[in-house]
Amino acid sequence: MKNSKQIRQEFITFFEDRGHRFVRSAPVVPNDDPTLLFSNSGMAQFKDVFLGTGVREYNRAANSQKCIRASGKHNDLEDVGHDNYHHTFFEMLGNWSFGDYFKKEAIGWAWELLTDVWGLPKDKLWATVYEGGEGVEADEDAENLWRSITDINPQQVLRFDKTDNFWEMGEVGPCGPCSELHIDLGEGTCPLSEEHNCSVNLEGCWRFVELWNLVFIQYFRDQTGELTELPNKHVDTGAGFERVVAYLQGKDSNYDTDLFTPILDEISSLSGVAYQSDEQGMAHRVIADHARMLTFSISDGAIPSNDGRGYVLRRILRRAARYGRNLGMNDAFLYKLVPIVVAVMGEAYPELNERVAYIQ
Ligand code: ALA
Repeated sequence: MKNSKQIRQEFITFFEDRGHRFVRSAPVVPNDDPTLLFSNSGMAQFKDVFLGTGVREYNRAANSQKCIRASGKHNDLEDVGHDNYHHTFFEMLGNWSFGDYFKKEAIGWAWELLTDVWGLPKDKLWATVYEGGEGVEADEDAENLWRSITDINPQQVLRFDKTDNFWEMGEVGPCGPCSELHIDLGEGTCPLSEEHNCSVNLEGCWRFVELWNLVFIQYFRDQTGELTELPNKHVDTGAGFERVVAYLQGKDSNYDTDLFTPILDEISSLSGVAYQSDEQGMAHRVIADHARMLTFSISDGAIPSNDGRGYVLRRILRRAARYGRNLGMNDAFLYKLVPIVVAVMGEAYPELNERVAYIQ
């Protein structure tokens, strides 16, 4: 079985072999973007390039970005622990084109990596494209490309509206229609299958899980909500690393991968309560997720406080502590999880290794 470090590296190498520059993850605390409390996607560090206000010495990039979605437009906090695939902190694998290649390469390479390199079953993959609206046409180009340059089942290319297939970084910023790849994990994988007909993009359905989002950045949304066309067309993609790892490691849950099991084991040993992957394991999952979020955000310069970014940290810290009490941990314990988070993640993100005592 491949470990998560190999999988992360295979993604980067695949794109390096196709002319992309590996760029290190930006901090989860954005350097100078007042519109964002946390880096919520891989593209955040390239926003200036999309807007035409900045340039890089390369026009193709790839990375794994430390992301936090616990506030603002992208917020997964309420799902954490209830399901097995949402996190406040996660890693996004991405590849970018800055005015260089466009939909054809983005779609072709995503398909090649998932199916040829990683061997995902083609008949279980579904693609979605933008159905149009807001003055933007339906994305027939992407739809036709899926059907012509890949061997996806043509019936498994679906159109959706802007909720799912028009991606925006925040209320203001670069945006565009997007095309997603979802995997069907099969019957018996969704606890709600008695209550709904499992399908792609159905809220709360665990059977069809989004793996990768390919965004075709072409617009800027301003303060008034108006869209204007950008001077160049760009590609911004994001694959959910923990979900890819879960699939490749043959696990039903992100928490059963090598990214989480050492942390869950530590929580079990500190609390004396064994982890269970059903509802009983909610507290373990929340604490593991929040320990990662806190470790990374404090390492990158955030600190719990009474407002703004700091208040998000404070809420998460309190929430983790509260779930700890459910496991009988009434004294301070979260700091004891920092070394294990760093042990799992420190090779990919070496900045963590120097800050263990500070974070604790
Ligand atoms: N920026 C896109 C996303 O976060 C890829 O889904």
